[in-house]
Amino acid sequence: MIKLVRLRTPAEVGLRAAQIVAETVERRPQAVLALPTGNTPRGMYKELGRLHDQGLDFSGVTTFMLDEYIGVAKDNRYSFTRYLDEHFYTKVNVSPARRHGFDSLCADPEAECRRYDRAIAEAGGFDLAILGIGSNGHVAFNEPGEFFSLASHTQRLADDTIYRNSGRLTREEQGSDSEAGLATEFPTNAMTVGMGAVLNARSLLMLATGEAKSGAIAEMMNGRVTTRLPASLLQIHDDCSVLADPAAAGDSGNASAEKQDSYD
Ligand code: PGA
Repeated sequence: MIKLVRLRTPAEVGLRAAQIVAETVERRPQAVLALPTGNTPRGMYKELGRLHDQGLDFSGVTTFMLDEYIGVAKDNRYSFTRYLDEHFYTKVNVSPARRHGFDSLCADPEAECRRYDRAIAEAGGFDLAILGIGSNGHVAFNEPGEFFSLASHTQRLADDTIYRNSGRLTREEQGSDSEAGLATEFPTNAMTVGMGAVLNARSLLMLATGEAKSGAIAEMMNGRVTTRLPASLLQIHDDCSVLADPAAAGDSGNASAEKQDSYD
């Protein structure tokens, strides 16, 4: 069952997430973490940097990025490798030898995915996978579709994901509404861990803020398990928590007294 933890603000989501990561690392200094990118976890990373300055030690921790675009150099603003360097690795002391990422510029993305799964297996799987959720219900870059891939795999991004992750540029703003036009401006393919590595994690922690996520969160919590909403698969995990602000939790501006009381 998924546990929904209601928090009052996006900032609280970041602080609580950092607290949970810190507790995990303190309890298990050799912890293996799966790391998300995107807007939502920025506050978490900022707080982890602060906690590191106060002594939180990441030197024994192993990390895996969840996903990465294909064909994006590290100096590209869309690079998730760059994002993790900027927001996390330069702020804490994870050993470079224990930082795992997809090589965006690899010659053979399918082989890269197999290499990645071997590295995850060798590390013993994830102790804690920190996840975001797409407004279409994607987890990492496992997009809605006809089937799930348990293994890491390449993924054509959903139009909705391209639209949102490109900084909400409209197709017109990107210069063309053709697929080829989009592809020249924004990567349309990615490598992602599969649902197998996610579901094998000892604990799952999802972060969700903003109204755009409320539909996917409600469906994930209350709907049936379906490949049409990859996040719904988390229902079968026995240690999965979602930290949500009121907008993502679907509470209106005037949350009822009962809802107010249920805030953590
Ligand atoms: P976001 O991305 O945090 O930028 O909304 C989350 C996701 O797509 O998984």
